[in-house]
Amino acid sequence: MDVELTKQEIEQWVRETNEAALEELWRTADEMRRRTVGEAVHLRGLIEISNHCVRQCGYCGLRAANKGLERYRMSEAEILECAHQAVCYGYGTVVMQAGEDYGITRDWLADVVRRIKAETSLAVTLSMGERPREELETWREAGADRYLLRFETSDPELYNLIHPTPSARAYQDRMAILRDLRELGYEVGSGVMVGIPGQSYASLANDIDTFRDWDLDMIGVGPYISHPDTPLGRDECRKVIAPEEQTPNTELMTYKVVALTRLICPEANIPSTTALATLNLKEGRELGLQRGANVVMPNLTPVKYRALYEIYPSKACIFESSDDCSHCLAGRIRAIGREIGTGPGGRLRSNKKSSQ
Ligand code: 5AD
Ligand code: FES
Repeated sequence: MDVELTKQEIEQWVRETNEAALEELWRTADEMRRRTVGEAVHLRGLIEISNHCVRQCGYCGLRAANKGLERYRMSEAEILECAHQAVCYGYGTVVMQAGEDYGITRDWLADVVRRIKAETSLAVTLSMGERPREELETWREAGADRYLLRFETSDPELYNLIHPTPSARAYQDRMAILRDLRELGYEVGSGVMVGIPGQSYASLANDIDTFRDWDLDMIGVGPYISHPDTPLGRDECRKVIAPEEQTPNTELMTYKVVALTRLICPEANIPSTTALATLNLKEGRELGLQRGANVVMPNLTPVKYRALYEIYPSKACIFESSDDCSHCLAGRIRAIGREIGTGPGGRLRSNKKSSQ
């Protein structure tokens, strides 16, 4: 199959149902993964440092209006302990993720980043939402290497419906932050949810095409999982589209997006996500890794907080300990004949394109 896909071809692939054709897609994506990023699967230890959030994203269980959720914020000592555990488990990176929580201040987090960088050789990834540029800059100066901020969908109308903010330019505002992150020298990660109500096949194909335009370093895609305590879960902020154009929020659809993303962005680091594992606990992660992905994110959050980071229901790994996840994932990676990555596992660039 030709891997120089046009947007029309991407759309044909996301609509593809023929099993033999899909087998060819998996094979081509896996081969591309092997040639570009190799056999190593990089482990990024995920620390969910706070579930406070000021935003009202229509799909997310952490949204500010969800008063039923007990909120927590980890202490510096707790985070440092997790970082040291990451080193013991052999992870090369820690990812600190939180809701958009201004209780996490610029200087406090800069301190935490500085301590992790001073005490370990870990790469540090942040995923803190849409923070002001000067905060992003301070964290970068403190030593943060990477930043994750998904754009969720490339359809501005759908984006604005599911991200209520006073700004009429909410989508453009988010894309401007991705540009800032690049300018500040972060490795930049983004991504989308697959099967958002109101997301059409054409719009999903455009999402994948947008990954190419932005030459992203990391691309995370996972299925949308309905949360009953959210407006989208109650069908309240739904963009109306023809039912036959609606993308399904299935495992299969997610594998197609992972595989196509690998073909479109051959050098990107692509995780096999927890949301995928949530749909198929038995082998979702493995199938993601065999259809284009090269990264997994074992959970390092202390068990007492895990169930509270409920962005969607029945999330994988909420009852397991950090130890469990470490052993589980190492076993799964070996069982499919892949190697565990060592070192930070940053973006490889064979011919650096000019960035947006
Ligand atoms: N289903 C699937 N993914 C979700 N996220 C948030 N809420 C949901 C949901 N209900 C994803 C978003 C966000 C990431 C941290 O989690 O894509 O960027
Ligand atoms: Fe957490 Fe398998 S990764 S239990």
